[in-house]
Amino acid sequence: MNILVTGGAGYIGSHTSVALLEAGHTVIVADNLCNSKAETLDKVKQITKKEITFYQIDVTDKVSVDSVFSNHHIDGVIHFAGLKAVGESVDNPLAYYYNNIVSTMVLAKACQKYGVRRFVFSSSATVYGDNTVPFAENMNLLPTTNPYGETKAMSERILTDIVKANPTFSVSLLRYFNPVGAHESGLIGEVPIGIPNNLMPYVTQVAKGKLEKLRVFGDDYPTVDGTGVRDYIHVLDLAEGHVAALDNLTEGVHIYNLGTGQGTSVIELVKAFEEANGIKISYEIIDRRPGDIASCYADASKAKQELGWVAKRDVISMCRDSWRFEKNNKE
Ligand code: NAD
Ligand code: UFG
Repeated sequence: MNILVTGGAGYIGSHTSVALLEAGHTVIVADNLCNSKAETLDKVKQITKKEITFYQIDVTDKVSVDSVFSNHHIDGVIHFAGLKAVGESVDNPLAYYYNNIVSTMVLAKACQKYGVRRFVFSSSATVYGDNTVPFAENMNLLPTTNPYGETKAMSERILTDIVKANPTFSVSLLRYFNPVGAHESGLIGEVPIGIPNNLMPYVTQVAKGKLEKLRVFGDDYPTVDGTGVRDYIHVLDLAEGHVAALDNLTEGVHIYNLGTGQGTSVIELVKAFEEANGIKISYEIIDRRPGDIASCYADASKAKQELGWVAKRDVISMCRDSWRFEKNNKE
């Protein structure tokens, strides 16, 4: 199939482009490079030895989006393009609501105009809010604590309503847990701008000596060791989850958790990183981070049953692959 991958130069989009190309699909990337570089797509081509068509466009711009749909026979869209920094979304909500919601609407409209029926959307486990773990797809969603999370909940609702009115439209809402890791080539991975907000890139930068020590946000949660528990998923497993979702997409709205089903605490992740790479990570415990929940992990059974997809890579490989990319990354 010819797949339009929005945000394809980004972290998850680039790994998914590799998986799509390896599965025999043709990839057309639309990305404005606001949080990525065009060279990443060269690396994707190097890994796969396949071509990609790239449009440097903003997917909130309907004229640009229309031109992509008119230039290609698109069979499906995977919509990754979005802003994703939780703290920034609190400071600048309008940028987040505009970018993340208008992009979804512009793309859905283009799909209607050009008769494109398959749409896969990057959602997030954040839509579950502070539900009881493990999070299952049929749970009532609880409010998220920030505008970023709300853009995901709203985009899910918009796409669901579009399907209600157009039952032949096929939508897959993929709720990612905590993507980490990198392609085993070390060529592509996550490149956070500035000081990382997320745990794994922070740990790799401590390992590299770019940051002095990890600050662990609280050790008084009701978890195994008091630190926050998350469901870390290797980005290559996540990428393969998209291919499975696309290949199994039928009419209607389908919601899938993409997680491993296993929770790992902050301290357990630090220990796994030390074991995987033989590097000591200094850390100190500080206060909880506002907005954090104690535990977040998936009930991953629906994706297994309906898509035949399960995450295969363990936390040790996630730590090894994250570190390999950080070492190779000259910045
Ligand atoms: P990323 O920032 O690496 O990739 C997003 C890409 O979208 C970037 O290349 C950026 O340049 C592009 N982009 C943003 N706005 C655009 C626009 N208006 N037009 C064109 N391109 C635009 O982020 P990622 O980690 O790869 O995340 C991909 C998607 O998955 C996002 O929607 C994100 O919200 C979602 N998600 C990510 C995580 C995570 O922890 N990484 C978790 C849950 C959901
Ligand atoms: N943590 C630290 N120190 C740090 C960074 C994180 O102790 O420097 C802790 C957090 O308190 C949390 C865990 O590590 O317990 C994971 O934190 P991340 O910031 O890596 O990830 P979050 O679970 O907070 O959020 C991520 C994405 C969101 C997404 C969510 C989905 O950043 O965009 O996963 O579950 F919505």
